[in-house]
Amino acid sequence: MTTALGIDLGTSSCCVGVWDNDHVKIIVNEHGDYTTPCYVSLVDNNSLIGEQAKGKVASHPQNTIFNVKCFIGRKFDHLEVQSMMKYYPYDLIDKEGRPHISVERHQGQQDFSAEEISSMILTKMKCLGEMHLGAPCTDAVITVPAYFTDAQRRATVNAARWAGLRVIRLLHDSTAASVAHTLTIDVKDDLHKILVISLGAGSLDVAFVEISERIVAVDTVAGDCHLGGEDFDDRLVCHFVQEFWSQHKKDISSDPHALWRLRAECERAKRTLSSATRADIAVDYLHDGINFYSSITRVEFEALCSDLFDRVLDHVKKVLRPTNSTLMTEIILVGGSTHIPHIQTMISKIFGGKLPIKRLHPEAPAVGAAVMAAFLSRDRSPILNGFLVLDITPLSLGIQTAGGVMTRVIASSVHIPFKASEIFTTYADNQSTLIFRVFEGHKEQAKDKNLLGTFELSDIPPAPRGVPQIEVTFEIDQNNILIVTACDQNTGRMKMLTVSERVGLFDYNINDQQDMAEDAGIRARKTLKWNTLNLRSLISEDKLPRTLKASEKASLESVIKQAEEFLSTTDKESPDVERYLEMQRILETTSSSILRKHDTTSS
Ligand SMILES: Nc1ncnc2c1ncn2[C@@H]1O[C@H](COP(=O)(O)OP(=O)(O)OP(=O)(O)O)[C@@H](O)[C@H]1O
Ligand SMILES: [Mg+2]
Repeated sequence: MTTALGIDLGTSSCCVGVWDNDHVKIIVNEHGDYTTPCYVSLVDNNSLIGEQAKGKVASHPQNTIFNVKCFIGRKFDHLEVQSMMKYYPYDLIDKEGRPHISVERHQGQQDFSAEEISSMILTKMKCLGEMHLGAPCTDAVITVPAYFTDAQRRATVNAARWAGLRVIRLLHDSTAASVAHTLTIDVKDDLHKILVISLGAGSLDVAFVEISERIVAVDTVAGDCHLGGEDFDDRLVCHFVQEFWSQHKKDISSDPHALWRLRAECERAKRTLSSATRADIAVDYLHDGINFYSSITRVEFEALCSDLFDRVLDHVKKVLRPTNSTLMTEIILVGGSTHIPHIQTMISKIFGGKLPIKRLHPEAPAVGAAVMAAFLSRDRSPILNGFLVLDITPLSLGIQTAGGVMTRVIASSVHIPFKASEIFTTYADNQSTLIFRVFEGHKEQAKDKNLLGTFELSDIPPAPRGVPQIEVTFEIDQNNILIVTACDQNTGRMKMLTVSERVGLFDYNINDQQDMAEDAGIRARKTLKWNTLNLRSLISEDKLPRTLKASEKASLESVIKQAEEFLSTTDKESPDVERYLEMQRILETTSSSILRKHDTTSS
C-alpha cells in the first residue's frame, strides 16, 4: 500500500504531511522548516524552488515567481487579475486567454502557466514526501479554498498530475482545519459546533462545522478565494507608492525592483502591526538612489484596509443563523492573516466576546489533508475508526437550456452526497434535440456562473412542444463527483455527463460515440443554431411573457436576427469555434437578461 500525501498548497507557502504510526508527521524541508515558500526562481539555466528561490527576488525580481495561486485557472482579462498584475515584479502575459508568466532566460523568453509553476512547487512537496518515506508517492489530498471555481480546481489537479501526483481529494481549507482540530478533541466529548475562519495570504474560508466523535460535518460555508494577506499588502504598497511620490515626486510603480523591495517591507510592517501600534518603513536606495523612510500606525492600516476587513466580516455573518450562532461552542482561527488584531476583535464582537477563540498552528490544514489521505488510502489506524467527513457543495449547480434561462437544480450548502431532478420539455413542435448547459455559481451571483459543460439529448421522438418529459438529474457523490443525467421519460433514452471530482474533467459517458468525436466547431454551430431556433419559436408562436416591454421584444428580435444572419453566412463545413462561441455569448447575454427579468420558467 502506498502512502498518500496531505498537501496544503497555499498562496504564500506550502506544507506536506503524512500519516505515520497513528499520527500526522509534517515533513521538514532542507532548511528544517515545516513550510516551504511558494516561490520559483528561473534564472538562466537554474530553477530554484522554495526558500532559495525567495532569496532571489531581490536580485532577480522579474525571474522570481510567487503567489501563482492567485492566477491559477483564471482568465487573463478578469478584473482581479488585471488589478493584481500591477503589483507584481514579474511579467504576466495573455496566452490563449489565460495569464502566463513570461521570463527572460539564457535561451530567450519563456512563458509558464500558473499550473506549470504550481506543478514545480508540488514536485518539490512530492520529493520531500518521498525522501521522508523512502518510497515513491503517487497520491495526494490537496487543500483548496472552498470557493475555488471548477476551472481553478481543474488547474490544481492538472498541476498535481504534471508533478506526478493523482489527486484523491481536493479538501477545502476550512474542512482540513476542522479535521486537524478533531484530532485534538476528546472523542467522548459532547457535540462541538465550531466556527472556522481560515484567512491566509490569498483566500478566506468560513465554515460552521459540527464535530461529533470523529464525524466532521460541514453545515454552512462562505468565503472568497481572492481575499487575504496579499490584498492588505497591496493596500500598503499603494499607500507608500503615493507617499514616495509626495516626498520625492517620483513614480516607482513601473520599477519592479523597487516595488518588490517595498512590498517585502510592507509585509513586514503589517506583521509588526499585529503586535505593535506603529511600524517603520525603511528601504535604502529604493529608487534612483533615494532612501525611503516612513511609518504607519495600526489605526492607519485598519483605515486603509477597512473595506477588506468588512468583506471578511460579511462572509463570517453569512454562515451565522439564529439556529447555529447561539449553539456555537468555539471559534477556530487558522491562516497567517487571522493574527491581525482588528480581525480578531471584529469576530469576537459578533459573539459579545463570550466565545473561546482557539488558533490552530500554521500546519493544521496539511495535518487535515494528511488525515484525509490516510482515511482514503484505507489506513487501518484505530484513530481513524469512525472517521467521516461530510462536506457541502459551496456553489449552486444549475442547468441552462435554449433561451438562456437558468434553472437551479442543486442549491449551495447541501451536504454531499446529494441528488435532485428537474423536468424539462421542448420549445418547438417536433423538436428532436435539447441542449443542456451545466453551470455552477454563487447563489447571490447568478450572472457569475461558470460553465462546467454542455451536453445534448437527441432523437426525441416527434411530439408537440411541451409534451416530451426530460428528467435531468444532478447527483454529487461522497467523493464530490457530479454526475448529470438526462432521461427522456417516454423513450427511456438516457445521456450522462460526469464531472469528476468537480474539477471539470469531463468524462463523457454518452450513448452516442459519435457525439464525442464531433468537432468542437460543429458542436458550437449546433448549439447556436438550436438556441436561435428555440428563441425564434418563442416569438413566432407568441410564447413570450406577457409582461415583456416592446423595447425588450425589439432587442430580442434584433439579436435573434443577428444570429440567424450569422448562421446563414458562416461556414457549415469548417466552422470557426471562437466566432460561434462569441455569437452564442451575445445571444445568450441579451436573451437571458430579458427573459430572466420576466421570470420565464425554463423549458
Ligand atoms: N502576524 C501576522 N500579522 C498579519 N499578517 C500575518 C502575520 N503572520 C502572517 N501573516 C500573513 O499571513 C499570510 C500567510 O498566511 P498563510 O501561510 O496561512 O497563507 P497561505 O496558506 O499561503 O495562503 P492561502 O491559504 O490564502 O492560499 C501572509 O499574507 C502573511 O503576510
Ligand atoms: Mg492556507
